Amino acid sequence: MESNGLDKARLPRHVAIIMDGNGRWAKLRGKSRIEGHRRGKTSVRAIVELSRKLGIQYLSLYAFSTENWLRPRQEVHALMSLLEHYLAVEQAKMMRYGIRLLAVGDRDRLPARVRRILEQVIDLTRDNQRMTVILALSYSGRDDIVRMARHLAREARAGRMDPDTINEELIAAQLDTAGVPDPDLLIRTSGELRISNFFLWQIAYSELYVTPTLWPDFREREYLAALADYQGRRRRFGRTDEQIEQIIRPSVQAGGSES
Ligand code: FPP
Repeated sequence: MESNGLDKARLPRHVAIIMDGNGRWAKLRGKSRIEGHRRGKTSVRAIVELSRKLGIQYLSLYAFSTENWLRPRQEVHALMSLLEHYLAVEQAKMMRYGIRLLAVGDRDRLPARVRRILEQVIDLTRDNQRMTVILALSYSGRDDIVRMARHLAREARAGRMDPDTINEELIAAQLDTAGVPDPDLLIRTSGELRISNFFLWQIAYSELYVTPTLWPDFREREYLAALADYQGRRRRFGRTDEQIEQIIRPSVQAGGSES
């Protein structure tokens, strides 16, 4: 057990976060929504840092959804500038701490300057192995699934794939998150009980944690509380408690029989 009360051996391998509430945080303080996003960026830094210190291997952040393109032009512009600045500043830290950056979503829709720095940092950090940060940018779960379906249909039409060979592994391998384990824990801030088109396929067995805390206020203490809550969960993946007990303690078989 660590001094923070967490069991290091039972940390989630992959934490995904729906960062919500920047606008409400700003409104409550009579500030602009953009100020809320700016404060949100500070929370991003804090959560990446603590994840790294704790040894979380994958951290996914829903930074910009496909639906967010519908927001006022000024807000979209400000969010893109924040992202660009974040990537430009954080790349040195990512190299220092062995953090690999990945992005999921439709990159083609991003402004050229954001795409350029994003691809630069992805390329720069590609061999880092301590932790992977996944930014969801111009991402939606349904869009991910649509792009996967189109790809598989094209492969089948070209005769490069037999449709009967499609299985869960093949689908997962064609989603933007290919190679990334499914999230163990999905956190949503600001109290809304929704998935908002984030990872749909990937969260089939994720534990969900919703906190009323607004994203700009979600810092170390709130994150540790979410992780502690996760460690109190019993994950069954559709099985019974008794089956899970046997998987965890296989020697405790009924009657103690060895056969
Ligand atoms: C949701 O709050 C948040 C977003 C749409 C964007 C998240 C962006 C950041 C945290 C800042 C920059 C990100 C990175 C990775 C550096 P909202 O605006 O929907 O809040 P509301 O629901 O209260 O209006």
